[in-house]
Amino acid sequence: MTEVIINTDIRKGRINRNIYGHFAEHLGRCIYGGFWVGKDSEIPNINGIRKDVVEALKEIKIPVLRWPGGCFADEYHWKDGIGPYESRPKRINVHWGGVIENNHFGTHEFFELCELLEAEPYISGNVGSGTIQEMREWIEYITFDGESTLANLRAANGREKPWKLRYFGIGNENWGCGGNMRPEYYADLYRRYSTYVRDFSGNKIFKIACGPNVDDYNWTEVLMREAGRFMDGLSLHYYTIPGDFWLGKGSATNFDEDEWFRTMKKALRIDELITRHSAIMDRYDPEKRVALVVDEWGTWYDVEPETNPAFLYQQNTMRDALVAAIHFNIFHKHCDRVRMANIAQTINVLQAVIHTEGSKMVLTPTYHVFNMYKVHQDAELLDLNIKSPGYRYAGESIPQVTATASVDKDGKIHISLCNLSPKEPAIIECELRGEKKTKVTGTILTAEEMNAHNTFENPNKVVPQHFDGASIKDNKLKVLLPAMSVVTLEVV
Ligand code: AHR
Repeated sequence: MTEVIINTDIRKGRINRNIYGHFAEHLGRCIYGGFWVGKDSEIPNINGIRKDVVEALKEIKIPVLRWPGGCFADEYHWKDGIGPYESRPKRINVHWGGVIENNHFGTHEFFELCELLEAEPYISGNVGSGTIQEMREWIEYITFDGESTLANLRAANGREKPWKLRYFGIGNENWGCGGNMRPEYYADLYRRYSTYVRDFSGNKIFKIACGPNVDDYNWTEVLMREAGRFMDGLSLHYYTIPGDFWLGKGSATNFDEDEWFRTMKKALRIDELITRHSAIMDRYDPEKRVALVVDEWGTWYDVEPETNPAFLYQQNTMRDALVAAIHFNIFHKHCDRVRMANIAQTINVLQAVIHTEGSKMVLTPTYHVFNMYKVHQDAELLDLNIKSPGYRYAGESIPQVTATASVDKDGKIHISLCNLSPKEPAIIECELRGEKKTKVTGTILTAEEMNAHNTFENPNKVVPQHFDGASIKDNKLKVLLPAMSVVTLEVV
């Protein structure tokens, strides 16, 4: 049996809604075919942006969207993406299949998308192959409210009023695709580039430095030591790869319990990574002024057979739903330091929440977890203690159940629970210490098979259902959590 104690009167901090952020790169069919179909498309659109996608993302309250990359960001030159479509240059997207980028989706289109989604824009600037002048001018073009050549150019391109831009990343993976730099060199470049990322016309930019890959603690140490005082956020990238990145990551749908177990174990590792990077940050920034921004996370498998290997298109199953829930539970636990996270990526790439094909759209199990967890956005994290039996497999053990709880502004308590075992149900006894609560309702996402997924032909195979496996008496909750399930309860 799993024992949980929730102290409903002990609040541990606000769960920043940006933890539920997204990432959209010019990669495969994320932008083109995913978000963007062009104004002349027969697919219903608003100035070229897909309507169905906007509606679906608004439903899950997408708070922030990172763009244009990824590796693409450090080869992107923003002036390519403004002005009349016919005069926008065609470039080779060297990172992602060498396809031709026609630059039809650029700055104006991105900001219009964010306005439609009511999401904060988060732009990644080009440090790897771009100049300081170029980066500085992009900020002026976007945010300056006055008579300058760049602001006038923006107006001539159809946008008189400046936009608000809060989040700006100074490069992406500069230890790898963003320039193969050493941390000392990047720290100096960061200090230099970020100086010229200016606040114009009352716009205040939150500057995010390129952070470590996975467990590169030395990168965090050097960055915090040399440049910590110049940044507002430090990024962290961590992907859940059941196999080996180079030798074979594993199939998205064709896997056994061994791969399931490995995936859960690797997803849980984000806890250790955040803990250890935070410990380094704490030494340089004990007030926790600098946010840890996990701006790329999610599962990464082998691409679907017969798809372009550079497009990173993969199916999304019940296993992915659990990976998402595990991450959210852990992000909540570290909400004092983790104040933004961005799943990679929103549409048609890696752990996508939406798949499209022509005019068709399907919502993945991961989408449904975002929907079930939106109640935690901006809520206060509650103190929660859990004693879970192990989920044992081949001599190894991980917790069978992970959980999180929060209280929203109306005093409603939401508890999310995941059962990582694909075979065993979990019995949970949860004591709610504090105010008297009398009613519980819930929603569940579960499946019969580990690889259950939604397709265009069968879009409702894995969808949330009403959950009646929870009861409450004298502030004691009893829950019967089916195997491989995610449940969100509301207690009032
Ligand atoms: O999300 C795909 C790629 O993974 C991104 O472009 C890069 O930043 C990371 O290595």
